[in-house]
Amino acid sequence: MRVNWSSCRPLVSIQEVTKVRRVGGNGASTRQLFKSTLARNEEARREDISGTDEWTNITPTIERLTNRKLLSNPAHPLTTLRDIIFSKFPEQEYTRANFLNPRVSVYENFDSLNITPDHVSRSKTDTYYLNKHKVLRTHTSAHQVESFRVYPTPGFLIAADVYRRDEIDRSHYPAFHQMEGGRWWSPEGTTSVKELVAKIDADTAKIPTSGIQIVDDTLPFHAGNPKQDRQPPEVCIAVTNHLKRTLEMVVGEIFQDIGKGDPSATKEPLQIRWIDATFPFTSPSWEMEVYWQGEWLELFGCGVTQQRVFDQAGHPERVGWAFGVGIERVAMVLFGIPDIRLFWSEDPRFLEQFAPGVVNTFKQFSRYPGTSRDFAFWLKDGTSPDQFHDNDLMDIVREVAGDLVENVSLIDKFTHPKTKRNSLCYRVLFQSMERTLNNDEINVLQDNIRESLKIKFAVELR
Ligand code: DAH
Repeated sequence: MRVNWSSCRPLVSIQEVTKVRRVGGNGASTRQLFKSTLARNEEARREDISGTDEWTNITPTIERLTNRKLLSNPAHPLTTLRDIIFSKFPEQEYTRANFLNPRVSVYENFDSLNITPDHVSRSKTDTYYLNKHKVLRTHTSAHQVESFRVYPTPGFLIAADVYRRDEIDRSHYPAFHQMEGGRWWSPEGTTSVKELVAKIDADTAKIPTSGIQIVDDTLPFHAGNPKQDRQPPEVCIAVTNHLKRTLEMVVGEIFQDIGKGDPSATKEPLQIRWIDATFPFTSPSWEMEVYWQGEWLELFGCGVTQQRVFDQAGHPERVGWAFGVGIERVAMVLFGIPDIRLFWSEDPRFLEQFAPGVVNTFKQFSRYPGTSRDFAFWLKDGTSPDQFHDNDLMDIVREVAGDLVENVSLIDKFTHPKTKRNSLCYRVLFQSMERTLNNDEINVLQDNIRESLKIKFAVELR
């Protein structure tokens, strides 16, 4: 969940900022301008190799989560939020796409999106691999190419479960949900850049303007957030205007709807701001944040879709945009849900508080006490602390204790001055959302975690 996409941005030597003005078309054929350079990787797309290998790191706990399908429950708060967001996009323009199976090819999740082979997000410590060729999707962007390829409408929307190896705390869980949207235009029927821009601008003019306060200090593009070589500047700007106007409208409507039932929410005017971002599959790229109930919530990651994505989709001549948004964090604020584990709760005291299409504040049933235990161990001789990844411990803890763990944190790390052996100490907070845990059962969990650590990582417990 903490992917730093910027590590794959090529370094720019001259940070000169290019101010861009709207300029008229130059009369060149747009088809010519968007000529494709990459052939679509058909073979990789069809890849469906099963079986396990040295890449396999999916655990039984995660496997079970892939079957939960929370979004199939119409009363689940995540479903309600998804439907509210979907309802703001015209149905005749945006196909609602379903991708129920979270198992996708490495090509779909990474290569098709221009994510370089050495990018950190591909590492085994961050991603669940079924084997060398298949992963649990780490983002709904894995379906962008397919969606740009097949749907008859110029737009699409996807909502689905995604998986990332991550730390354990109140707002991080190895499975969560994202929404993805995309919109494209074809130069077909136009004879110049100017006509294509006019077509995009006409669509932008149809989007209702939001009455909300918008702070946008970003430039249309600049050396650090560049336009693509294959796109004329005015096309990049037109696509950007449509993208920003769309997301501003969506956010304005959603938060105004929600604010209606909450008198305290209407006091402060809704504010949103745009900031520069970096994603391998868009350029230029942005993030939109919204100020809501006292905090800036990071909402959409988005940008002008890389032409290489359209190449992969078999439509190199198209231009367009895409966005992605994680839904748990927004749902936690809207429904007042304090811990991300609750979304996965099967306790009727959680589930029965919600009804389809209704945003209401969650009433905490009880706060059960937590107990922490420390796990201190020497790493195998010759192993540096960097070779033991936090996420390795996270998966062991989850396998043994499931959702009975609220938080895991590294509290100590040192190297013995004489032996040079490395020691780590993690603190695990055991806490159930549904009942009080007794000492005996915590002792069993503790023993099992210790045992697993010894077997899997040959550590020496202290
Ligand atoms: N896939 C990105 C993530 O998980 C979010 C995202 C950013 C999606 C930009 C997009 C996009 O479609 O254009 O962090």
